[in-house]
Amino acid sequence: MSQRYRLTILPGDGTGPEVVEEAKRVVSVFNELGPITLDTTEIPCGGKFYQDTGEEWPTGSFEHCRDNSDAILVGAVGWPGARLPNGDVAGGQALLGLRSGLDLFANIRPVKLYPGVKHKVNGSFKSVWDSDSVDMVLIRENTEGLYHSLLRRSSRAAQGGEKDEPIVIEKFPGLDGEIAWDLRPISRNGSERVVRFAFELASRRKQQLNRSQKVTCVDKSNVTRGCRLFRQVFREVASEFSGIETDEAFIDAFTMWLARSPEDIDVVVLPNMFGDIATDLASVLQGGMGMAASANIGESHMLFEPVHGSSPKHSGQNKVNPIAAISSTQLLFEYLGLRNQDDSATMCAEILEKAICEHLVEGGPITYDIGGSASTSDVGKGIAERCARILRETSGI
Ligand code: IPM
Ligand code: MN
Repeated sequence: MSQRYRLTILPGDGTGPEVVEEAKRVVSVFNELGPITLDTTEIPCGGKFYQDTGEEWPTGSFEHCRDNSDAILVGAVGWPGARLPNGDVAGGQALLGLRSGLDLFANIRPVKLYPGVKHKVNGSFKSVWDSDSVDMVLIRENTEGLYHSLLRRSSRAAQGGEKDEPIVIEKFPGLDGEIAWDLRPISRNGSERVVRFAFELASRRKQQLNRSQKVTCVDKSNVTRGCRLFRQVFREVASEFSGIETDEAFIDAFTMWLARSPEDIDVVVLPNMFGDIATDLASVLQGGMGMAASANIGESHMLFEPVHGSSPKHSGQNKVNPIAAISSTQLLFEYLGLRNQDDSATMCAEILEKAICEHLVEGGPITYDIGGSASTSDVGKGIAERCARILRETSGI
């Protein structure tokens, strides 16, 4: 009997629904032919939804995500001019509110160059199949740091609370006139759990890839106290994982190494805002944002999303790359497998990975951003058909 999971889909704004449509196409192939079934519920949300209805998503959506979802898939949120009265991005409840409200503390952003995709910096086609190619995972702390206040506001709003938690600081010595400022708290517990996650992931990669793995701590501990704690915790946790190499870097130098020698990087752990910035930069090493997938993982919930955002100027044209959303679905299968010790979900993840690779290496349709001219739906259809073929071959149907 096929294992059933509850999937909640939040297509959101702009190109979000277009790429999610292709992820759904892939999911329906696995539902029909695969060893697991995803029972899906779709919830509207986002800045555009807010402009149309006055709310960021329907009442009860947060509770549905919290209580009735084994996994959540988000398209993108953010629409030009859509702001809440307090200035925050409208639609943020659906993304930031869930990151914080469901305590999704690790934001996993794999950066790997698929076969057939050109490295946007050096133009090479060396792929994840070559051991000296780009194949790394950036892990962004996802609940604190510079995002802390915004995350708290968003999750309180998502759970029906309205009030801000003001922190009063009377003055900043030496500064005059109007000041806007943000706190950047970094906690020992918050650091420890994400650093541990990074080392555990590196240990799994060591086994799967059968090669040594290094975890790099990226921070600015020469300047900020929060980062000093982050690095101290990194060293403490590292001492428990003797089989994994370690490295440490300041974020400014790291961005240079990322561009110059990405092949040397395996697993990286970073505080929230540095992770946000470094992952956009890193996406050019894998063909751009259209290829960048992510997983937001907590103790008991998980949310998957392409990293690229809603790109309003491209929306409604069926032209953006759906591979980031499809790869996010691949991560969804992978983490369902891990979390539930379900080999059939893991097998689905492997099949989807194979289908994406084959599609790219055998010249399947690709979108403009990676050198093709195909539509969003043609890419989705191509990958979905490959999944169907592999599933049929595997089960002998
Ligand atoms: C991301 C995005 C979000 C973030 C935005 C949409 C709030 O850039 O997921 O990286 O800053 O975390
Ligand atoms: Mn970002």
